[in-house]
Amino acid sequence: MKIGIESISMYVPRYGMDLRLLADARNVDYAKYKQGIGQEFMSIPSPDEDIVTMGANAAEQAMEGIDPQSIRTVIFATESGIDQSKAAAIYVHKLLDLPQNCRTVEMKQACCSSTSALHFALATIALKPNEKVLIIASDIAKYGLGSAGEPTQGAGAVAMVISATPRILELGPDVGYFTKDVMDFWRPNYKDEALVDGKYSIKVYMDALEHCWEHYQADTNAAFEDFDYFCYHLPFSRMGTKAHSHLARQQKVPLSSQELQRQIEPSLRYNRITGNAYTASLYMGLLSLLDSKELNLAHKKIGFFSYGSGCMGAFFGGTVLPGYQDHLYRSEREAWLRDRKHISYTEYVEFYTHRLPQNGHNYRTSRHRSGSFRLAGVENHQRIYERVPASMGAAADSGKALAAAPAV
Ligand code: HMG
Repeated sequence: MKIGIESISMYVPRYGMDLRLLADARNVDYAKYKQGIGQEFMSIPSPDEDIVTMGANAAEQAMEGIDPQSIRTVIFATESGIDQSKAAAIYVHKLLDLPQNCRTVEMKQACCSSTSALHFALATIALKPNEKVLIIASDIAKYGLGSAGEPTQGAGAVAMVISATPRILELGPDVGYFTKDVMDFWRPNYKDEALVDGKYSIKVYMDALEHCWEHYQADTNAAFEDFDYFCYHLPFSRMGTKAHSHLARQQKVPLSSQELQRQIEPSLRYNRITGNAYTASLYMGLLSLLDSKELNLAHKKIGFFSYGSGCMGAFFGGTVLPGYQDHLYRSEREAWLRDRKHISYTEYVEFYTHRLPQNGHNYRTSRHRSGSFRLAGVENHQRIYERVPASMGAAADSGKALAAAPAV
């Protein structure tokens, strides 16, 4: 029995900022962002978007043509949770009108929980092959204005349906794991922005990669050369290049710069123009690779490295299925990415500093460009979501009403 990804889709906000504007504002040489960390553009969520709206937008597309009754589990992976108790999966379950005979949970371990969700899904389907699992990875990466991490910020979601009738990628049971208690990146409950020891986090990422690979290799006898392409967790795109050369060096595989580029460059394209989306980042890299028009990836083997600060890592492999191109939303995705609104530095700061009331007071969010779902406001401490008519999603903003948004 084959088990793997039947459908996959991603959503990023309709707003973003060219990092040239950030470089000017921070008085930094733009080459540091473009070449040094490999970033050109960051996705920025508007005040009427959150992990639920982004996740629901991604999931709606991933569910196209799939019988909702077949979904028995919804797993929402995030580190930008909106509630300490209720799973974000339940909001999406309602927005997508999924069947009531369904379990719905939220998972957390930094950027890596989406990968654990994937492996839990494989195990579930191995036991119950008629069931399908909907996985949603959705996050907003915030480091703070003027912080070293600022140019790596981003936001977005990936949704995947995992089943015994995969059309995109077949996955096996083997995973190399690594867990170690370190403080490289974390976000206490009282903070909106992550705390991070940037240079240390890169070192820990590399250590985790080595250990995960060793564990995977010990279990499977795999060789580096068994993989045609690699996808890494991408906090910024240059991390993928650094990680891949590190693994090749450690494996004593002489890799020319052309071969290194060939193996990972296709997976880096989307990250450069969207930024870090934490749990969704690795899978946006997979979509970036799958969307490469010049490549026929059928039967190609991909090596994946998932990393979540704190820390946990996982290395695993997957094989691309013939016909995968017919089940992607490539042209829609390209148009969406191209048509995003470029905002100014001042608008970025306005979006960035917007906060929902911290006391649960009734509040209506100003309307911005969105996908099919938006956060309408807060009533009695409850977030209120609404479906946006198709004609209005891309419509012009309702003005700069951030500060002046009237109470409900
Ligand atoms: P920084 O200190 O501002 O940058 O922060 P830098 O001084 O290290 O420079 C970065 C690179 O740009 C260097 O290249 C410079 O040489 C180069 P490298 O030495 O790496 O080859 N550079 C230039 N290049 C061209 N022209 C120039 C120029 N100037 C410098 N003029 C840092 C960089 C990544 C630390 C920062 O952005 C940060 O703290 N980011 C957030 C943390 C992070 O992304 N960590 C990655 C690993 S942890 C992870 O992936 C997990 C995570 O996703 C969270 C989770 O799991 O939940 C973050």
